Parts: sequence; structure tokens; C-alpha cells
Amino acid sequence: MNQIDLKNRIAIITGGSGGIGFATVERFIASGATVVIWDLDQKTIDEAVAKAPGATGIRVDVTDEDSVKAGVAEVIRRHGKIDILVNGAGVTNPRTLVVDYSLALWRKMFDVNMTGTFLCSREVVPHMQKANYGRIVNLGSVSGKEGNPFSSGYSASKAAVHSFTKSLGKELAATNIRVNAVAPAIIATKNLFHDMPEEMKKLWVSRVPMGRAGLPEEVAAMITWLASEDVSFSTGATFDISGGRATY
Ligand SMILES: NC(=O)c1ccc[n+]([C@@H]2O[C@H](COP(=O)([O-])OP(=O)(O)OC[C@H]3O[C@@H](n4cnc5c(N)ncnc54)[C@H](O)[C@@H]3O)[C@@H](O)[C@H]2O)c1
Repeated sequence: MNQIDLKNRIAIITGGSGGIGFATVERFIASGATVVIWDLDQKTIDEAVAKAPGATGIRVDVTDEDSVKAGVAEVIRRHGKIDILVNGAGVTNPRTLVVDYSLALWRKMFDVNMTGTFLCSREVVPHMQKANYGRIVNLGSVSGKEGNPFSSGYSASKAAVHSFTKSLGKELAATNIRVNAVAPAIIATKNLFHDMPEEMKKLWVSRVPMGRAGLPEEVAAMITWLASEDVSFSTGATFDISGGRATY
């Protein structure tokens, strides 16, 4: 593993108990960062913290404005600053045609994937501006670029994340705050891959020229680099991590 320097950096990772989020927690800690996991369920947060010595956790629902505000206030109380925000909290939809897609499911995709990313960014950025330093990394998706069939709400919400990344990146471009996104193709996490029916797994993997799903650790490596000071001339960008699937 190459060493990326995140020493003395305070990082929030939303969805930090999940597959990619937790791999990022581990890589951040190995890189010297102080990590605060934000996630929905106290039990899974406690389990994640127990497996990642040095990390702490706070129960935050990223769709709830008050919860996000309270989470930010608590991180500032504990650590005095926020250098890094990884917007990793996300949900996906079961395979659903647009004509069968309920409004409730559609709203859930946008609430968590997009509004959560917006709320966390909006509340954290003023603290980064005060310090004139910050790195924000958003979890987009190849589906947000291509528009996957049977996954319209998820795909559209991730396209919105890519667009939001550009808007915020440009707004902050003249500062020392960088805002970028990653666009993974299929990554072998429990909820988004291992729990899928076998024929779906085969279908998604068949679209990847490397012929396999990516690993959470591989995405974590890219996120860690994007969260570091080394990323100085990229902002508002979406970085593919797709085993060769993404072509633009
Ligand atoms: N695994 C993949 O193939 C893949 C591909 C492209 C993009 N992504 C994106 O990467 C991110 C992580 O995916 P993953 O596979 O690790 O998923 P995961 O389900 O393992 O982790 C997601 C985490 O987000 C948390 N979360 C959900 N709603 C929340 C809320 N309202 N507030 C706070 N936390 C909440 C969950 O509890 C969970 O711990 C997601 O944004 C996902 O859309 C994943």
C-alpha cells in the first residue's frame, strides 16, 4: 500500500459503516487522519468503531437538516475543525422499471444520495472556508453517467451528485477547498453486490472489461488520494473507477 499523508486531518465519512465507507475509514486511519464515522444505526456504528481503532462515530441521518447540523457541531466541539468530508452515505433501488417506480422510492433515492450530499456539504463548507482548507469527495456512480435501465431513480440521483460536484467545485475554485467525485462501476460490497441475485451480478460484471467487480479498498485508495493535499489542480471533477467500463 502506498502512503498518502492525511496526518493531522479531521475527516467525516458519511455512510462510514458501509462497504466503501468503512474501507475508506481504514485507509484514512492508516494515512494518519482522525476519522468520525457518520451513519444511521448506532449498532453498526459501534461495530465499525470497534473494528477501526482510532475512529469514533456519531449517529447522523444525512437527510435530516437538524441531525446534520448537530453532527457538525459535535465534530467541531471534539476536534475544532473539519478538513475532509466524504459523502459516502447512499442507497440503491431494487430492479424497477420507470413505469413501476413509486414516488416514495424516487424521493428516497434523491433524499439520501443527493440531498444528503448537499446538506452535509452546506454545513461543513463554512468551517473549511474559515480555515481556507478542505477536501470534499462525493460518491457518484457510473450509473449517473450512463443511466442504467431498471435503476432510473438511483442513476438520476447520482447524475445530480456529479452535477452538484461541478457547481460546488467551481464556487470554491479560488479557495484552497477542492470538491471532487468518484464514479465507481460495480464494487463488491454487501448491500450493493453480494446481496444481488446471481444473474444480476453476472450481468453487471459482464459489462466490466476487467471481468470482475472492484474492491471497496480500490475505491478507498482513490478517495484517500482525492482527500489529500496532493490534489491541488482538480476540482469539480468526476474520477472513474470502473475496471475499464466508463468510456467518457
Ligand atoms: N457498491 C457499488 O457497486 C457502488 C457503485 C457505485 C457507487 N456506489 C456508491 O458508493 C456509496 C457506498 O456504497 P456501498 O456499496 O459501500 O453501500 P453500503 O450500503 O454498504 O453503505 C452505505 C452506507 O450509507 C448509510 N446510509 C444510508 N442512508 C443513510 C442516511 N440517511 N444517513 C446516514 N447514513 C446512511 C448506510 O447505513 C450504509 O452504512 C454509495 O453512495 C453508493 O451509491 C457504490
